[in-house]
Amino acid sequence: MSNIVIVGMQWGDEGKGKIVDLLTEFADVVVRVQGGNNAGHTVVVGDETIVLHLIPSGALYREKTCVIGNGVVVDPQVLLQEIDELRKRGHFLDDRQLLISEDAHLIMPYHRRIDLARERMKGEGKIGTTGRGIGPAYEDKVAREGIRFGDLLDDQIFRGKLETILPMKNRYLDTCLQDQGFDLDAMFQEYRGYGQRLKKFAANISVFVDRQIKQGRPILFEGAQGTHLDVDHGTYPFVTSSNTIAGGACTGAGVGPTRINEVIGVSKAYTTRVGGGPFPTELNDAVGEKIRQRGREFGATTGRPRRCGWLDIPLLKDAIRLSGITGIALTKMDVLSEFETIRICTAYRHRGRRIEEVPSSIPVLKESEPVYEDHPGWKAELRKARTFEDLPLKARDYVRRIEELTETEVTLVSVGEKRDETILRRNPFRQGPGRP
Ligand code: GDP
Ligand code: IMO
Ligand code: MG
Repeated sequence: MSNIVIVGMQWGDEGKGKIVDLLTEFADVVVRVQGGNNAGHTVVVGDETIVLHLIPSGALYREKTCVIGNGVVVDPQVLLQEIDELRKRGHFLDDRQLLISEDAHLIMPYHRRIDLARERMKGEGKIGTTGRGIGPAYEDKVAREGIRFGDLLDDQIFRGKLETILPMKNRYLDTCLQDQGFDLDAMFQEYRGYGQRLKKFAANISVFVDRQIKQGRPILFEGAQGTHLDVDHGTYPFVTSSNTIAGGACTGAGVGPTRINEVIGVSKAYTTRVGGGPFPTELNDAVGEKIRQRGREFGATTGRPRRCGWLDIPLLKDAIRLSGITGIALTKMDVLSEFETIRICTAYRHRGRRIEEVPSSIPVLKESEPVYEDHPGWKAELRKARTFEDLPLKARDYVRRIEELTETEVTLVSVGEKRDETILRRNPFRQGPGRP
């Protein structure tokens, strides 16, 4: 049986939601391991489009268990809204479908306010966060000032924590950020109510996952964001505040690395980014605009237009190394169908020197020019392709060239947002890594 981690290889929004939903058919459990409701994972089934922010993308299967791991930062208000929304649409009706780690940290209203106020103060130099309080919540976790989901379930502990933490937050908001503080009693009552509604989902996730593994139940670990938004390995400080690489699945679900059998990296056939930070292959021209329109590249969480550019191999090679990726799920191939020429960035050039890896220094990365090779476009619709052989030769060549450059198999090619608009060259739950 396989336990598989899904990670983003770029700057998020690679199509992880689609891939997780698709592969959930072969798993019993889907675990979100990090991030919070900064994520927006889109799942399209039939005529229905659902964007999931906190609940794992396996939510549309009745018989599968969705788990929110300890590494996730949970905004209880958003989570309840998401559950209600899914139920209104006739999904996720059984309470047994969801488990939440008692150790997961909470996003509190002061986290959101601090996030927004800091971005305002930074002005031009802002990160372009989603404003969901992600950074401040992870800061409190590491500073040992966080409130965990388990704390919320005990009135005395929760109130005690708020009494210590909230006055400090209010002082910080007032004096450093010139923003308003919060009333303790009102917050206690409101969040206590959320705790009461969510109590039934509380569990020790590490123990649960271990038991599933021992029973031979396949597990899908769902990463959020993307490799280059990783707080350690991404384009710091233009990153999120968690470890988005495959190792995040171990810390974020309490599972040892020897229990993970495969890592599938999701990448678009081109590149996008939301928010600030360097982006070597970015296209600020009509071509970039065409990708944005054809790919409907507008944020699933904030609605912001995504910055668009050509595929960047150094980004992918870094992702493969950092996460031990065994197969690539290449999405949105159909978006490139109309282009005469399609470019691949194979390396960067910095002051005359060729670089193969993404440099750690932001000024160096900003000054780096992409080195391109050009490929003739296939100029044909791909959405009906279901086997690799159904793809036009030039599209197959494009995929093969990516495999060559990354020295990694393209396990899956996605040609549309729907579940069935997919070419599954090898099913990672059925066959181990290797050539398809
Ligand atoms: P995630 O955050 O990685 O889950 O990705 P998002 O859901 O934020 O963004 C990916 C977008 O691309 C969503 O609107 C998906 O429905 C869509 N999508 C995924 N795969 C494909 C594909 O192969 N072709 C097209 N045209 N759209 C896709
Ligand atoms: P999914 O899971 C794309 C970006 C934000 C910003 C930076 C920091 O849907 O791929 P944060 O709110 O996390 O402090 O913002 O990270 N970002 C994402 N970009 N997809 C995401 O998630 C993202 N989550 C955060 O735009 O640049
Ligand atoms: Mg997204």
